[in-house]
Amino acid sequence: MAEMKCIGILTSGGDAPGMNAAIRAVTRAAIYNGIEVKGIYRGYRGLLTGEIVPFKTNNVSNIIQQGGTILKTARCLEFLNPEGRQKAYGNIQKEGIDALVVIGGDGSLTGARIFAQEYNFPIVGLPGTIDNDLYGTDTTIGYDTALNTIMQAVDKIRDTATSHERLFFIEVMGRDAGFLALNGAIASGAEAAIIPEIWTEVDQLEELIKHGFRKSKNSSIVLVAESEITGGAMGMAERVKKEYPEYDVRVTILGHLQRGGSPTAIDRILASRMGAAAIDALMEDQRNVMIGIQNDNIVYVPFSKAIKNDKPINRDLLNTLRILSI
Ligand code: F6P
Repeated sequence: MAEMKCIGILTSGGDAPGMNAAIRAVTRAAIYNGIEVKGIYRGYRGLLTGEIVPFKTNNVSNIIQQGGTILKTARCLEFLNPEGRQKAYGNIQKEGIDALVVIGGDGSLTGARIFAQEYNFPIVGLPGTIDNDLYGTDTTIGYDTALNTIMQAVDKIRDTATSHERLFFIEVMGRDAGFLALNGAIASGAEAAIIPEIWTEVDQLEELIKHGFRKSKNSSIVLVAESEITGGAMGMAERVKKEYPEYDVRVTILGHLQRGGSPTAIDRILASRMGAAAIDALMEDQRNVMIGIQNDNIVYVPFSKAIKNDKPINRDLLNTLRILSI
């Protein structure tokens, strides 16, 4: 690879707490190694429109504790077609950018992979998503903060659920992945998690009613992963109202509050390590890889693996949840 003098950095897709810590780490690690940095605003859209600004160390001062992303983010449809990507490449050349660091989830890294292949251009990705659904990394930037947010929200709902002796279905994010629902349920002491990964195997609602609620509980909390497969919390509530009319059912959809807030220490440290590792990877001439973490070690995961493989849910956790909810 020709000498790397300048890198561009962008955040794309749904924002996640810790993205700012990652931007800070990438920027500072690059400058430390004598590499110039350019901040690209609004994800791939900023590459197309040329919203590109030189970044110095002070551009990333005082942001490690902030949620969201100072670079803004977008889901850019134009980048999905070749004309859009050509425009983006034109701006990259004009700005003298030799490599990109893309912070985002599944869709953002898919875009990175296509672009990197099409233009033989070095890109390193960082897994930035609350969903934790990228293969090859134990966890993603933003996941721990979102889990903590869910736990705090459920703690509050529990107070009223107990007082009124109600059955609550609480819908959490995750797109089509059940990590937030399952670990959120364990962390908050919920009775069950309804997740898309095991949908076709058992009727999770029937299991829940038989094994817990009906026997011993006057109130109950069930976390439901948002997904067409599960039908979400509303779908579940409708079913219970029809099949078990004796229960007093309520629904809460936590929604976008799960994406906000100051990142936890775990997310800040993860983002800082991954951001610095992205620069190491580029200096080692790595390309088309996502930075991951496995057993507390930084690893490089080819984009093709990170995106294409479904990350498996740890089924032991389901069992733990079931045992602890008796
Ligand atoms: O991928 C992150 C995520 O928060 C998902 O959990 C959710 O399904 C989606 O983004 C919501 O996207 P938007 O903010 O565009 O509505």
